[in-house]
Amino acid sequence: MTLTALCPGTFDPVTNGHVDIVQRAAGLFDRVVVAVVENPAKEPLFSVAERIQMLREALSGLGNVDVESFSGLLVDHARSRGVGVIVKGLRAVSDFDYELQMAQMNRHLGEVETYFVPTSPRWSYLSSSLVKEIAGYGGDVSRLVPEQVLRRLKERLA
Ligand code: PNS
Repeated sequence: MTLTALCPGTFDPVTNGHVDIVQRAAGLFDRVVVAVVENPAKEPLFSVAERIQMLREALSGLGNVDVESFSGLLVDHARSRGVGVIVKGLRAVSDFDYELQMAQMNRHLGEVETYFVPTSPRWSYLSSSLVKEIAGYGGDVSRLVPEQVLRRLKERLA
């Protein structure tokens, strides 16, 4: 039996913290599907196509990882892909309340289990929002995001 995990997120843009979680999930599961949410309510810096492209570039070394987008409920997407496990990173206690609530709701809605992977301490302070804020002020985020993301951030925020 092939065990597949879904790694969902906004990924606007992908950071080294996301890459770390997907890499570790790829070592634990036969296949990992990274799912970029299409959320019309949010105004992202990068389009879904750009976010997918950056993820594909950052994860190109992982043969068992696919990247795609989804809209609507995560559990519906998981069901349509025949996936029963969601993997999420936990950076700190502050993430836990909301992540636990979503995990329990997703189990209620779709009988999908969520596995939490603790973020590596070196990335526990990292978020896409902070990266965008710092890059927007011209700060150095070169050690926080993959190279291609850095290039695109510079282009977008120039
Ligand atoms: O990277 P993020 O912003 O923490 O990812 C949040 C995400 C995409 C996992 C969450 O917003 C989500 O699952 N959205 C899809 C809509 C949905 O299923 N909502 C109900 C969650 S219980």
